[in-house]
Amino acid sequence: MHDNTGRPDLSLEEAENLARTAFGLDTTASYLPSYADQNFKLKTTDGAKFVLKVFNSVENDENLDLQARAMGALAENGLPVAAVLERTVVTRETGEHQVRLVSWLEGIPLALVRPVSTPLLRDLGSMLARTDLILKDVDGTGGLGDFQWDLAHVREAIDSSIGAVPEEKQALVRYFRDLYVDTVAPNWESLPSQLVHNDANDYNVLVSSDKGEERTLSGLLDFGDLVVSARIGNVAIAAAYVGYHREDPLDAVCAVLSAYHEVNPVSEAEVEVVFSLVASRLIVSVCMSAYQQIKEPENEYLAVSAQAGWDSLAALRTIHPRLAHYRLRAALGWEPVPGSIEVAEWISNNTDTFAQVVLGPDPDALPVVFDFSVASLEFDPEALCVPGVAAKEIWRRTGDAVSYGRWNEPRLAYTGDAYATLSGERRTIHIGVDLFRPAGAPVHAPLDGVVHSWCVHDAQYDYGGCVILEHTPHGCQPFWTLYGHLSHESVGKLSEGQKIANGEAFVRLGPFEENGGWVPHLHFQIVTDLLDLKGTFPGVAEPASLSSWHSLSPSPGELLGLGSLVDTPDRPSVESLLERREEHIGSALSVSYENKLHIVRGYMQYLYDAEGRAFLDAVNNVPHVGHSNPRVVAALHSQMRTLTTNTRYLHGNILRYAQRLTATLPASLDVCYFVNSGSEANDLALRLARAYTGKTDTIVLEGAYHGNLTSLIDISPYKFGGAGGQGKPATTHVVPMPDCYRGEFKGMTLQSGEAYAAFVREAAKDANSAAFIAESVPGCGGQIVPPPGYLCRAAQHIRDAGGVFIADEVQVGMGRAGSAFWGFELSQSESESVVPDIVVVGKPIGNGHPLAAVITTREIADAFDNGMEYFNTFGGNPASCAVGLAVLDEIEDQNLQENARIVGAKLLQGLIELKSRHSIIGDVRGVGLFLGVELVRNHATLQPAAAEATYISNRMRDDGILISTDGPLHNVLKIKPPMVFTAHNAEVLLRTLDKILSEDFVQARLSLVSK
Ligand SMILES: Cc1ncc(COP(=O)(O)O)c(C=O)c1O
Repeated sequence: MHDNTGRPDLSLEEAENLARTAFGLDTTASYLPSYADQNFKLKTTDGAKFVLKVFNSVENDENLDLQARAMGALAENGLPVAAVLERTVVTRETGEHQVRLVSWLEGIPLALVRPVSTPLLRDLGSMLARTDLILKDVDGTGGLGDFQWDLAHVREAIDSSIGAVPEEKQALVRYFRDLYVDTVAPNWESLPSQLVHNDANDYNVLVSSDKGEERTLSGLLDFGDLVVSARIGNVAIAAAYVGYHREDPLDAVCAVLSAYHEVNPVSEAEVEVVFSLVASRLIVSVCMSAYQQIKEPENEYLAVSAQAGWDSLAALRTIHPRLAHYRLRAALGWEPVPGSIEVAEWISNNTDTFAQVVLGPDPDALPVVFDFSVASLEFDPEALCVPGVAAKEIWRRTGDAVSYGRWNEPRLAYTGDAYATLSGERRTIHIGVDLFRPAGAPVHAPLDGVVHSWCVHDAQYDYGGCVILEHTPHGCQPFWTLYGHLSHESVGKLSEGQKIANGEAFVRLGPFEENGGWVPHLHFQIVTDLLDLKGTFPGVAEPASLSSWHSLSPSPGELLGLGSLVDTPDRPSVESLLERREEHIGSALSVSYENKLHIVRGYMQYLYDAEGRAFLDAVNNVPHVGHSNPRVVAALHSQMRTLTTNTRYLHGNILRYAQRLTATLPASLDVCYFVNSGSEANDLALRLARAYTGKTDTIVLEGAYHGNLTSLIDISPYKFGGAGGQGKPATTHVVPMPDCYRGEFKGMTLQSGEAYAAFVREAAKDANSAAFIAESVPGCGGQIVPPPGYLCRAAQHIRDAGGVFIADEVQVGMGRAGSAFWGFELSQSESESVVPDIVVVGKPIGNGHPLAAVITTREIADAFDNGMEYFNTFGGNPASCAVGLAVLDEIEDQNLQENARIVGAKLLQGLIELKSRHSIIGDVRGVGLFLGVELVRNHATLQPAAAEATYISNRMRDDGILISTDGPLHNVLKIKPPMVFTAHNAEVLLRTLDKILSEDFVQARLSLVSK
């Protein structure tokens, strides 16, 4: 990619003529992008492909020989490079041009791959490492001398072109130019040097083009920039380009470098310059592009990567170069901050010399250590999230002691936007220790130091008054201690450089109004590199870079004389949890997602993993009124504390609950039975139906699921017809799913409703049918909304045959449908309505507490009362009923049915809009907050896109949103969030889904059949 003066100017016809006359090939030519040369793709009539390279007239023979030598050596060693097949020369007005016919490499440029996965980045690192190992032994004679793309000449390249860059962008270029001058230039000569490719940009790296499978690298192109230079530059150049379009480009650099290092180990000195070299390549690229653009405003190739380069530079600018260096070291498995372990060792060898930092009135009182972690059982979510709420409890337990908040603790308090990193991850892990004493308590220096800096931070939840002391003890490298949440007056008295003696009380704890709004405490932290900050330092860190932050801020336990008491215990790895699960839990229980989740807390529509990462829950409809809804929790707690017995004693709760529940249903449904699960409820519903009708058979919908009991597997085609199923029992009769998208009758019309209902009539004819059971809006069946009138007609048909209609509302009832409280009500029209004989409710009614119910008519209930007692140990106990009442209260008071209607409509609208842009979406359907997106590869055959649905669900999870897949063909995305889901949540879901729908895996198998 050197200067493009002397670029040839062949037309396509001329290229075809050249191929014919020089190489005897009859081909069709098309242009391939090139900056200094001209490249043509040649295709023969029998499909063979070649590349015709017409070199810049300034290209010399020696260099072309070098290219052939390098490519030959790499090909011999199995690297994916093109072979030189023929050569010739053409003379044009632009000069004499060398011409090469080279073999065609299949693949698409890495730049066009979405997303570039970590395995692919690692593949790139390994390929570059192998390339460098081979080129090391290739004679570099003929390499380009002094040219601006050699990282040896960054300064000159920038100085000669920066004038072309718009003025407002020059500061960014200068910053990285100066970084190069300060950190790379002085060490350049000592870096290992060899022949390198020097331009593995993302258009020069090819990837196998089968989008569906795990992709691998299939080619390295363009050997025109071969140069003898620092070998680390080669990997830095490639890493610079794969950082494009990423929120945090350094992540990609880390992945590429670590894989490189495993094949071709790098030295500490080389890693030290990587960050600057990555940025250097980018500033040279944007400057050259700006320079050339002035000369050739019409050349689009020049502008291709300019914007992405600027974006990457802006992101890199926010990362301190030394922090970047530590992250790179951590990626290689090295100690991130060199010397940090020594500091920790020095501290633990000198514990008997440290003064106590904060003292309580009773020096003998045992320290109190709080659990403020995401999984804490000590505090409720509000107390963990909102500073100040826990104050009373903190002071009660602190008494005359000092109490502590732990180091390395993932906390809910830091899950908000204010703690987002470049990649959107939250800095949830606390890397200091909190020491609680009331405002005004003196703070003592644990060892001699000088005031490095201080600052008063006014913003809410910041440090308030903050001081940093510098320590330079004998036998240890310098380190710092940070003191946050101090009184303004006490820090204001300090001056930089002021000596503070071991044990000296040098500042005081600030009150709530001065300390950022927290319960008075000291935030105490060790820092091994201040990253040039003054008066502040991050007190929380993101899980992804935790090893770097642990190295920057090791545990202060030893310095506080508390050893590991204030360290948060290690969090179990997902792997270890899976192993333990395999040991003791039946393997027929599945675990969701490719990357398993270790969820330790739920609050309203969010779930939190052990690191404090928040996941937007768009799939769990059981926590109907929100995970750990405080009202429900309180109701359960107070009733459990008071009484929980079985229904053989009289109690008001069961009566109140039965009254409230039946009030939401048509008047004839006025008798309740309370049980513990949807399965138990459906089993009881079958018993009621059989007792009432004296019949045995059941009519069910295709693909239906009604529970996990033996009796229900028998009526669940989803189970008996699926993997491991024993087939349909003779007493079960399956009728088609009223699916107006994929089924026999299309369109949401009354005619469809009638036609599907006729199947129930036919099935009931020859059977001894006690019941037709159906979900009002079938979920496992694929989130199907039945056509109008369907349930009304089907219910009539079963009654005509002497059976009853059981509405399974386990999934969709309780206001989820938005426009109706119960799913069966959706079937109603002005002219007809349906009242089931039995309604079954479960999941949402207990908000996670095991509670379910069967509601029926007095007549059916009386028929069931044949002398045999119905006893259920837990069903209907006072605590469960208290929960049920609280859920109903919450639905009413928070207007959650209306919320489901409004937010559901917005979500549905957004999904319909996505359907107009993404061919894979075949159908979007649903009611309220119960939605389905059916994916197909072909709109004519409706070929299901099951692998794509799984892929999308996994990718959504990786991006922090939980959905799942369902339907008999496993190709329906299922969305059924807690009812507290907001319009903003819906927007986030739609945005993320839109992005993932555009990824290669989703696009790979689509047939181009229009909708
Ligand atoms: C429609 C339907 N009915 C019944 C059940 C069984 O409920 P449970 O799992 O509480 O036994 C389920 C469970 O998924 C269901 O989806």
